[in-house]
This record gives sequence, C-alpha cells and structure tokens, in this order.
Amino acid sequence: MSLHTLNIRLDFPYRTGFTHGAFRPENDALVSLMEQRPGSRVLVLLEKGLEQFYPQLSADIDRYFEKNAGVLAYAGCRSVPGGEEAKTGFSAWETALRHIVEAGIDRHSYIIAVGGGAFLDVAGFAAATAHRGIRLLRIPTTTLSQADSGVGVKNGINFMGRKNYLGTFAVAWATLDDFLFLHSQPLPLKKAGLAEVVKVAVVKDASFFNWLETNASALAVCERDALEYAVEHSALLHASHIACGGDAFELGSSRPLDFGHWAAHYMETMSGYTLGHAEAVSVGMCLDILYS
Ligand SMILES: NC(=O)c1ccc[n+]([C@@H]2O[C@H](COP(=O)([O-])OP(=O)(O)OC[C@H]3O[C@@H](n4cnc5c(N)ncnc54)[C@H](O)[C@@H]3O)[C@@H](O)[C@H]2O)c1
Ligand SMILES: [Zn+2]
Repeated sequence: MSLHTLNIRLDFPYRTGFTHGAFRPENDALVSLMEQRPGSRVLVLLEKGLEQFYPQLSADIDRYFEKNAGVLAYAGCRSVPGGEEAKTGFSAWETALRHIVEAGIDRHSYIIAVGGGAFLDVAGFAAATAHRGIRLLRIPTTTLSQADSGVGVKNGINFMGRKNYLGTFAVAWATLDDFLFLHSQPLPLKKAGLAEVVKVAVVKDASFFNWLETNASALAVCERDALEYAVEHSALLHASHIACGGDAFELGSSRPLDFGHWAAHYMETMSGYTLGHAEAVSVGMCLDILYS
C-alpha cells in the first residue's frame, strides 16, 4: 500500500452577539455581522408560531432590510413551522428547503433563522444540506435556545423514533441573541429553559451556580435583568466550552454539556415528544446526580 495522509486545517470564526431589538431600523448589529459582497443574498426564515406574538415582525424585517438595501440584497422573509412536531419528520425541513431554492440562495448568501430551539434545528439542517452548506445566522427566541442551542454547532431532526437522529455538525456564521424575544414567552416556557443554564453552571462554573442560587427567587419569576444575565452567561459558557474545550464536534467520549441528556432524550421519545426538552433535562440531571 502507498498511503498519503494530509491534514486539512480549518478555522471557524464563531460569533455570538447580544442585543435588544435586532430588527429595529436604528440597530445595525445584524447587518454588521454579514460581509457585504456583490451577489450575496439574505433570506429570513421565521418560525411560524411567532406570528401570534409578533404580528408585525415580518413587516419589521422587510423594513429593516429595505433600509439596508444598499448593503445587502434581501430575498424576503418566509415562515416555516417550528416546535418539536416540526422537528419530527421531513415536512418542515422540506418547506425550508423549498424557500431556499425559490429565493435563489447560493453559497455566497446568508440564511437568517429566527425562532425557538426546535425550529433552529430544522432550519439549520436545511441550511447545512442545501448546496451542502449555506451561511447561517441564528436569532434564537426562547430561553433555552438563547442560553444553549442557538450557540451550539449542531442541527437535526428526529427520525425513526430517535431524537436528533438525522443532522449535521455545522458552525453557524453567527448567533445573535435578541433579549426582547425572551419576554413574550409564557412563564412555564421562559422558566423551563433555565434547566440548561443550571446544567452548564453545574458542570462549568461554580460561582455562576452560586449566583443562580442567590437569585433563585428572581429567576423563578423570570425577572428581566436576572433572566437576561443568566441567559448571556450561559450562552457564553456553552460557546467557550465548544470553542476551547478541544472537542467541538464531539468525537471523544467526554461530553459535559450532555449532562442529564441521556435519560432526557429517552424520556422525550417515550412520551411521543409531549415532554419538552427542558423539562426532560431537569429530570435527567436529577437521575444522573442520583446515580452518580
Ligand atoms: N442543536 C442543539 O445543540 C440543541 C441543544 C439543546 C436543545 N436543542 C433542541 O431545542 C429544542 C427545544 O427548544 P425550545 O425549548 O426553544 O422549544 P421549541 O423550539 O419547541 O419552542 C417551544 C414553543 O415556543 C414557541 N416560541 C418560540 N419563541 C417564542 C417567543 N419568543 N415567545 C413565545 N413563544 C415562542 C414556539 O413557537 C414553540 O411553540 C429541542 O428540540 C431540543 O432537542 C438543540
Ligand atoms: Zn439540551
């Protein structure tokens, strides 16, 4: 045998930003994250369920990109179903892909995905598979997705009764947490996402865990400043573990960010996805602690 082993070295800039009101006309955080190249188009995929909380959002997005028309070519804003149901099967993924094809999105373009964790997994899978990978900007809208999944490097859908079975590792171009979205969530959803905040504090940052305990009553009612601080700190802990932990694509056996997740994924599947991910992770962490 003649064997030649070469190394392909790749750097992935990994951008995480925080703002209030990403689509306000005066806010240039979002456009400043994109390179302005001739021919670059921008397609926004918006989680359909957000329409009931933000009836003006798609018009605001249109206005935002009309204002920035000299900088980026806007290909429109299209809605795609979200939630765990959309992540279980191919239909929402196909809808997202159809929008991508119809908008003429190519590998010089950007897809901006705005929605919760399940929607971002579907939209991210579509962005990663169309043309074998298009630049993706995530704007997560739930506590869980801002604190954890939005800054992650994975996407996927549930398949053949298995949680997250189909998907890819794909580093997003950028993630922009817009804290304004947090406050329209119903309290149970807003609070449930803090499970991933507790998770990352337990495995990565004892002083943050102490801060969570000290501020538990403010967090229990999702007081604005406490919630935003907890979400931002959690997102940065997740991001720094992924970027600096030595195993961004999870090839090794130590996956600290998966604390509580083994049982959680089984419980979600066994419940037919009626048990939410955050709630399942809370129970999963208790089980892991009990058995450790
Ligand atoms: N890819 C990863 O690394 C990763 C990591 C952790 C979790 N996840 C996945 O994330 C999913 C859970 O995400 P989630 O907790 O965001 O739930 P979700 O995406 O299922 O959203 C729950 C509900 O909240 C609604 N919603 C979204 N934003 C809202 C807002 N601002 N105001 C009001 N309602 C809003 C949605 O329409 C949906 O009905 C699971 O599928 C889980 O597997 C992925
Ligand atoms: Zn999780």
